[in-house]
Parts: sequence; C-alpha cells; structure tokens
Amino acid sequence: MLDRLRELQEQALRELEQVTDKQALDQWRVTHLGKKSALNQVLRSVGQLPKEERPIVGQRGNEVKLALEAAYEQRVQVLKAQEMARALAEESVDVTLPGRPVSLGRLHPSTQALREIYAIFAAMGFQVYTAPEVETDELNFGLLNMPPHHPARDMWDTFYTTRPGVLLRTHTSPGQIRVMRERCPEPIRVILPGKCYRYEQITARSEHQFYQVEGLAVGRHITLTDLKGTMAEYARRAFGAERKMRFRGSYFPFTEPSVEVDMDCIICGGAGCRVCKYTGWLEIAGAGMVHPQVLRNGGYDPSVYSGFAFGMGVERPMMLKHNIDDIRYFYSNDIRFLQQFG
Ligand code: DAH
Repeated sequence: MLDRLRELQEQALRELEQVTDKQALDQWRVTHLGKKSALNQVLRSVGQLPKEERPIVGQRGNEVKLALEAAYEQRVQVLKAQEMARALAEESVDVTLPGRPVSLGRLHPSTQALREIYAIFAAMGFQVYTAPEVETDELNFGLLNMPPHHPARDMWDTFYTTRPGVLLRTHTSPGQIRVMRERCPEPIRVILPGKCYRYEQITARSEHQFYQVEGLAVGRHITLTDLKGTMAEYARRAFGAERKMRFRGSYFPFTEPSVEVDMDCIICGGAGCRVCKYTGWLEIAGAGMVHPQVLRNGGYDPSVYSGFAFGMGVERPMMLKHNIDDIRYFYSNDIRFLQQFG
C-alpha cells in the first residue's frame, strides 16, 4: 500500500510538471486530489486494512495529500507568474510612439459671431437680455403695432403652432416689450440675441431658422443720432475702423422713423462688386426710433421717454466676412465646415 502511495505521488508530480495552463491545472486537481482520485480511494479504504497497518498508511496517505496540495499551490503561482510575464512582454507600451492628437471641441461659428457682438455692445454699456423663442402672437405682432389683419404682418412668414395665439417668433423684436415691461420706468440699454424662425423656402441665401440680435435703448433723451453713433461704432469694431455708415429711410410698424442701416462694402470698400451687387453698400440692420405706441405698450410715456431699436442678422455678416456662399452650412453640421472656425 505504501508503494502504491509513492507511485501515486510520483506520477502526480510528474504530470504536474507538464501542466502549462489553467485548464490543465484544474483537470490535474480533479484527477489527483478530487473525490474520485486514486489517492482518495486509498484514504477511504484505510478502514478495511489490518489494524496495525491503518495508522501507517493513513498517516502516509495524508502526507501525500498535503504534498500534492502544496505542489498544486506552487504550480498555480508559477503559472500566474508566467502569465504576467507574457502579458508584460506582449502588451508593453512603446512610450516612444507619437501620441494620438486630442481633437478639441470648438464654438459654433454662430456662437462665435454672437459672442463678438456681445463684447462690442458690452463695451458700449448694453446688457444681454434673452427672451423666449416660442412667443405669443400678441408680443410678436400685436404689441409691436400690428393688430390682427395688419398688412405689415406679411413681412414675416410665420410658423404657427397648434395652440391658438402661439407661434415661433419671426424676429427678436417681441423681446423689446418684455424688457420694457420688466424694467419700466428705468432707462434701458440691452441687446436681445436669439434664434428666429420663418416659414420660408430654404435656399443658399435663406434658412428657416437664424439668429438675430435686437438692440433697445430707452431713456429721456435718446435721439436718432444715438442710434447712428451706436451703429457706426458697432460696424467699425466688427468690420474695421475705416467703415462708413448710411441710413436709408424705411418702414417698420414698430419704429417711427424707420431706417435700414448700411455700411460700405467690406469686400470692395464701396467701389462696387458682386457681393454688394455693385451698390458699394451692405445692409446690416433694420432700425429706428421706437414707435410711441410701442413705448406705451411697454409702459413708458412717450411724451417723456424716447428710444431707439435695431435688429440685425448674425449669419449674413459672418458669410460676408468669411466668404461663405451658402447659409445652409450653418445648420447642416458638416464637421469640415465647422472646423474652419477655430
Ligand atoms: N424685427 C425686424 C425684422 O426682423 C428688424 C428690425 C427693424 C428690428 C427695425 C428693430 C427695428 O428693432 O427697429 O425684420
């Protein structure tokens, strides 16, 4: 019996040396240390041996078992170490390889243009005020001097919602009423930037969503000259110190008088080119003195207060500045376009 045990031990250890992976190791443990192993059978049969042999075989059997268990543990460690060495060799990092470039996000060109506008007007003392894009018919039109059926409403093709009296604002002008009602009777100097929506055919020149920046100044002594100076200062800071301005008489229901604000063409300097359609001038804003009725709708007494207002586009001037020939690029999310504005 003792010989049998020695054989079992020697064979088990020999086999263990051949084991090179985890699976074979598990198999080895089942074969040599498991319930059905030859060793276990010997240990279980000890009781049937003659009385004097029992302690000797039993003790020896346990020694073999302990030896095999120890050998097994050792093998586990060896295999782990080999596995680690292999992983280190195979998965080592070559620190001399060039790094992968991290691509930074950037601001959308419209956001950049807006921020530039904020900075210029902030320097002139204008605060930024934001108003909702989903607006009431009354604010978008009615309180701006265009009661229902007023023909001037045709100037804006409107997206109406399914809720009566609620629409997507067609311009930032309704914000004027909101600020006035909030601030009255304080003097006001704000810009109101934001998205506007128009039910229009989308073409290279017009999108149905776009940004505007509205301006509003209300006080006791505000004149058309203040408007002109403000517009000229903006144009010079945004498009170059040599810019010239002109006002052309126009019509908006919410201003009286109303003007279109032009600056000399930034491409040809006024000589005439394709961009300015050979006029030498580019239109940058609609503007005027706030209509007395609009002041009244905002809570201000027009016999005491006056104000100027303007509304300008954001994408169009950006297109001029960067020679962008299609407004649809702004919202088509083409990364090749967006990446050019870093
Ligand atoms: N709201 C006008 C538009 O979208 C632009 C405009 C014109 C705004 C004159 C004004 C203004 O504040 O005084 O066409």
